[in-house]
Amino acid sequence: MSLDNSSTSSTPTTPLFQISPKDDYSIKPIKEEDYNNVIRFLRKFFFRDEPLNTYVKLLDDENGTCPELEEYSVQTIKDGISLMAVSASGQIIGVCLNGIIRRNENRENCNDDNDNDVHGNEKFLKIIRFLRYADKMSEIFEKFTDVDKVLCVKILSVDGSFRGRGIAKQLMDRTRQIAKEEDFGLMRGDCTSYYSARALARLGFECVYTLKYEDYTEFGEVTFSPSPPHDAFTIYVQQIN
Ligand code: ACO
Repeated sequence: MSLDNSSTSSTPTTPLFQISPKDDYSIKPIKEEDYNNVIRFLRKFFFRDEPLNTYVKLLDDENGTCPELEEYSVQTIKDGISLMAVSASGQIIGVCLNGIIRRNENRENCNDDNDNDVHGNEKFLKIIRFLRYADKMSEIFEKFTDVDKVLCVKILSVDGSFRGRGIAKQLMDRTRQIAKEEDFGLMRGDCTSYYSARALARLGFECVYTLKYEDYTEFGEVTFSPSPPHDAFTIYVQQIN
């Protein structure tokens, strides 16, 4: 591994990153020429195995995709602060797609109640409505009145055969370095998964918002019941500088 772990702040009982020779990988910025490979990676993993995507069965079949989520991913990458973990053989084994959120801007998953600007796949729309609701209820900018620019981890995904080895933590630790270098006031992770929440907690982030899936309904019905241990959506933050 080519990362320096010294910026991590917690004092875990087990190692924060479990590195072994077979985990030889590096963390790299995602550039325009990587878009296609990143989208291919997301189709194989995140589009299928992120807890809400799995619950709504976002992809209909083995070769399916979700153009709306692809567009969402590409738009996020265009903010220029996303990272990928690449194995020694050049294969993408993890991605962390990071977006910029500014105070008072018209954010895509955040501050209005109408869905007229998002069209298409109803399963995807259901998730976007949920994220917008959670964002609104979390009142991040009201809680952090001195912060104008937030770095938000929007999509985090690790290859199924490389999980539990600290790659997600490495990606977000390196993201935190970018947040420092680029003068973000706050770094934020919107966690639909118990494991992404756990990773941020281990990196010393604070949970500022929790929405249990059983408490979110549309038309009187619980909308998402992902399998355990994914029982809540959480927002973790850390002030930078
Ligand atoms: N069982 C038990 N614990 C696990 C498991 C597992 N299957 N996977 C990860 N963990 C724990 C780790 O032990 C670690 O906790 P610890 O430090 O206290 O031991 C913590 O979760 C993070 O572990 P990492 O190894 O850094 O995480 P990993 O590289 O496995 O990636 C990720 C985590 C990205 C969530 C991966 O499971 C994944 O791709 N899941 C499917 C997509 C998804 O859910 N993405 C996150 C959605 S939220 C968002 O995108 C912002």
